[in-house]
Amino acid sequence: MTLELYRDRNHCCLMFSDLIEENGHAVQANQFLIIDEDAGALIDPGGNLAFNELFMAVSRHFPPRQLSYLIASHADPDIIGSLDRWMSSTAAPLVISRVWERFAPHFTKVGKSDNRVIGVPDSGGRLPLGRNDLLLLPAHFLHSEGNFHFYDPVSRILFTGDLGVSMVTGAQAGQPVTDLKAHIPQMEGFHRRYMVANKILRLWARMARQLDIDMLVPQHGAPIQGQEAIDDFFAWVESLMCGIDLFDEQVYQIPSARIDPISRQMRPALRAVANGV
Ligand SMILES: [Fe+2]
Ligand SMILES: [Fe+2]
Repeated sequence: MTLELYRDRNHCCLMFSDLIEENGHAVQANQFLIIDEDAGALIDPGGNLAFNELFMAVSRHFPPRQLSYLIASHADPDIIGSLDRWMSSTAAPLVISRVWERFAPHFTKVGKSDNRVIGVPDSGGRLPLGRNDLLLLPAHFLHSEGNFHFYDPVSRILFTGDLGVSMVTGAQAGQPVTDLKAHIPQMEGFHRRYMVANKILRLWARMARQLDIDMLVPQHGAPIQGQEAIDDFFAWVESLMCGIDLFDEQVYQIPSARIDPISRQMRPALRAVANGV
């Protein structure tokens, strides 16, 4: 499904939400195309699972060879696992945090990314696209150490990468959420484990509140739309304990359970079973 997040005569933002097979084992993921006049940028193009379908879907709207940028919020496999193929199919540079600048070439064949990586400093910046700029906003530790969110001032969309993610199907991801309360159960487990610390969530919310936002659009699951739902999201993350807030010495123990490679399940240690523990 291609969801048109925004369109006017000169500018559009498209979201592709169901390019990965639903019954597979890979997490649902969204990819994004922003077009401003005759310039285009692909945001978080994804892994190899999505490449063929995404290439065809993008081609219906914009010639991939004319893309100005491949933009990556961070360096996870579901973000740039397909980098080698995009570097082969386009002439676009990769825009990514400096933290990952010298790691990204591990996704490509030798030399393919040479002189084609724009390393963004921790402070972020404004990236020209057509007649407008995309804001690359610091979002480090949400969840990745070197991480950016992307604000498009024309559509007033904030692309939030792995923040605001919900675990839903591709079809559900195409339905923007306006009632945050009912949506929290789809987000909570992910954010508690994948976000690093409440301190970072509060710093991010303080920054994001300064923007005029119509929609928060995550890289997995459904967009969050409308002032009320967005305000509720800010309030929710500010009060959320996550990551290192929740990890204590209980987690950092020498393990005793065994991994059964046949069933792929954990088994209690034999001694523990014998002792009835
Ligand atoms: Fe990630
Ligand atoms: Fe992700």
